Amino acid sequence: MATRTELYNDDHHAIALCATADPMVSLEGRDFCSTSDLSPTELRATLDLAHELKAHPHKYRWALDARQMVMFFEKASLRTRLTFETAINTLGGSAIFVDQTQSPLGERESLADMARNLERWTSVIILRTYAHETITEMALYSKVPVINALSDLEHPCQALADFMTLEERFSTVKGLNFTYVGDGNNVCHSLMLTAALLGAHCTIATPRKYAPKAEIVVQATEIACTTGGTLIFTQDPVAAVTGADAVYTDVCTSMGSEHEETKRAPIFKPYQVNEALMAHARPEAVFMHCLPARRNAEVTDAVLDGPRSIVFDQAENRMHAQKALLLMLVGRHQNSKAD
Ligand code: CP
Ligand code: NVA
Repeated sequence: MATRTELYNDDHHAIALCATADPMVSLEGRDFCSTSDLSPTELRATLDLAHELKAHPHKYRWALDARQMVMFFEKASLRTRLTFETAINTLGGSAIFVDQTQSPLGERESLADMARNLERWTSVIILRTYAHETITEMALYSKVPVINALSDLEHPCQALADFMTLEERFSTVKGLNFTYVGDGNNVCHSLMLTAALLGAHCTIATPRKYAPKAEIVVQATEIACTTGGTLIFTQDPVAAVTGADAVYTDVCTSMGSEHEETKRAPIFKPYQVNEALMAHARPEAVFMHCLPARRNAEVTDAVLDGPRSIVFDQAENRMHAQKALLLMLVGRHQNSKAD
């Protein structure tokens, strides 16, 4: 069982959780293509390690000494690229970045052949792609762990950091009222699955034609049945936000769908997170966004820059959460230097 101590960080007036990950849980050699690759126990252990790493980074300074990690990105990135690079560099390993924005993975060489090369040199393969199948196919052929750094279907690393951030704020997310408003996209999918795994009450408000994919709804609902979580789907943003502890939104038009921007703008207008919508949430509710944000489109400046916004805590926690993930997948989570 995980043990926890609550610490107050005077600089940020935030609660930091110092937790000890369950040493019996191992993800060694596994892939992280989807949030649903983890069981509730495995997710708990990963989040506990993330809190521990944030509180005591020096203990893990050389945990990935000389390990190599390669990242192929078909799409632009600020946070994901830099948080993976800073994560592995500060664990003693190093990262190789390959800009894949000009030619899709699998075009020059099959994914199977790429995997058989990469596993000879590197300990982890990280992919940001359009097609989710590019990631699952690489995982099928690779002997080393493959991590999804965003696909059209999911953004599991983002959701890991987001729920770590919620745990810092609320101590536990079990029973928390988590609301997502906007496009039923990759970020929404991973948030639904993570909320379900952790037993949160998750409400999703989207326009009718932009609801989350049915396969993810089924998966998340099945998981929630085992954890005490709940899922509600609606087209009414006010009903969804009423009583929420956390309100989350993302861009209306994801990377790869830019050509739909003009069509989507009026459809998503009623789903903008602004001060009037936030007024329906609980007084202590937080505002969340994975970033980058389209300011004054899906969220107003007043909310994004306001006192309830925890978007930069989310961005910071990408690094801590991904450190934990890397250590778990490489099997070095128990290999820290003793205090
Ligand atoms: N939130 C996120 O994944 O940001 P980037 O696209 O900048 O990596
Ligand atoms: N849904 C967005 C998230 C970016 C981090 C996209 O896929 O573009």
